[in-house]
This record gives sequence, structure tokens and C-alpha cells, in this order.
Amino acid sequence: MNTKDVIRNYWDYRSESYNNGVIDQSEEERNSWKNMLSESMGGKRGLKVLDVGTGPGFLALMCAEMGNEVTAIDLSDNMLKKAKENALIRGVSIDFRQGDAENLELPDDYFDVVMNKYLLWTLPDPVKALMEWRRVLKGGGMIIAIDGNWHDTGLVSRMIRATSDLIRIITEDKYPYIFRKQYDPLKKSLPLFSLKPEKVIHYFNEAGFDTVSIEKMDKLCSSARKKGKILDKLDFSNPIYLIKATK
Ligand SMILES: C[S@@+](CC[C@H](N)C(=O)[O-])C[C@H]1O[C@@H](n2cnc3c(N)ncnc32)[C@H](O)[C@@H]1O
Repeated sequence: MNTKDVIRNYWDYRSESYNNGVIDQSEEERNSWKNMLSESMGGKRGLKVLDVGTGPGFLALMCAEMGNEVTAIDLSDNMLKKAKENALIRGVSIDFRQGDAENLELPDDYFDVVMNKYLLWTLPDPVKALMEWRRVLKGGGMIIAIDGNWHDTGLVSRMIRATSDLIRIITEDKYPYIFRKQYDPLKKSLPLFSLKPEKVIHYFNEAGFDTVSIEKMDKLCSSARKKGKILDKLDFSNPIYLIKATK
């Protein structure tokens, strides 16, 4: 099996238990995310937005609810099935397509915004992906990428991960085992598996983006930590970054 097949299979499997806040999030939290997105998009509506690696549709659903025209792609058919169910629940219309972030079957110069959340870390060729996202963006269009250093190799981070894995194994399912089995052989071929801000900027520059900014999403992380669940506190203990770049 090649790398993409392994990744697709893992996320097909993972779609059963991965909802990541799409339908179980409070309106207050959704509004914080929407405010952040709206601010990043200059308060504009009616934009053509592409969500790459949409999973269960977290960003795609929000952007559609905010009055934008949304296309969303994912490698995993099972994730897309879940995203479509979630779109029905929230009563929004989105153009969902199966596709690869590194080879978009989409026209040049079409979207105002290309966004993604928690995708950069699992891309075998981030520069190729970024060049593709740049290709489908209109001149002046914007990339909004959100991700964290989920696999930070520092001691404290490893201890926090071991604790949250243990809690998940006891309370949820066995996915941390499956994750390791699938991703351990791949991680050396995923350049942003351990996501460092300076590395991310370097890849954006290599893909042709001159104006790139990266900031920590401290406000959203601290409100997620305050939710009270121990897993939220652990998951959001590492910084999450908001990366913006303009074509
Ligand atoms: C960690 S999940 C994040 C999902 C969603 N963006 C969220 O924040 O909840 C990563 C998603 O990226 C998708 N994915 C991974 N590699 C991809 C690729 N090359 N092209 C498109 N989607 C990909 C996976 O199938 C999975 O749904």
C-alpha cells in the first residue's frame, strides 16, 4: 500500500469515532471559531471557500453557515459521508468532493479562500499541496491553515500524550493503537508530522507565498481547555497555530 492509501484507510476507519466538535460543540464555542474566521476573512461574506481535508466538516459547515459558497474535499469517503450527514443536520448546502489536497481537480484562480484544519501534519508533500492551493486561489486570495504540533517530541508533551491516550483507550476506543500502527511507519515521510512554525513558513515561502503570518490561537485554546473535560485540557495544552498567506 502506498502512503496515501494508508492515510485514506486510517481516516476511513477513524471516521466512526471522529467528530471533533462538529455537532457536539456549544454555540458559544462555534461563535468563537466563526468570529476568528470572519476576522481572518476581513468580515466579508459570499466568498468562494475551499476546505481541504474537511473530515466531518468542521470549517466547511461554519463557513456555509456564515453565508459563503463552500466546496469541501477529503481523501476519505467515510469522512465525507459523515460530513454530508452533519451538513444535513445543520441545514447547509456544501459541494463535497472526494479528492487529494496535493492534486486538486479544481480550476485555476477560482477561490477567494482556501482553508484547512489539522491537515498540514499529515501531508507527504506540503510544498506540492501549497502550490496546488495557490493555483486554485484568485489573485489576492488567502490561505487560512490551522494546525498544531500534535507529535511534539519534548518530554512534557510526550507525557501529556501518554495520559490522554490512556484515557481514550479506557473511555472511548482503541484508536491510539491503530494510529501508531498506521502512522509510525509513515512519520518520517511526513515533513510536518512534528510541526514547527519556522518550518511551516519555509514551506509556504517555497510554494511561492511572500506574505505569510503565523500566530498562536491562545484565546480559542484556553476556552477549549476551560470546557472542563480532562481530554480537552490535555488536547489543547500544546499551542495551535493560525497561518495566513496571501497570493
Ligand atoms: C485530523 S483530520 C481533520 C479533519 C477536519 N479538518 C477537522 O478539523 O476536524 C484530517 C483529515 O484530512 C484528511 N486528509 C488527509 N490527507 C489528505 C489529503 N492528501 N487530501 C485530502 N484530505 C486528506 C483525512 O481524511 C481527515 O479527514
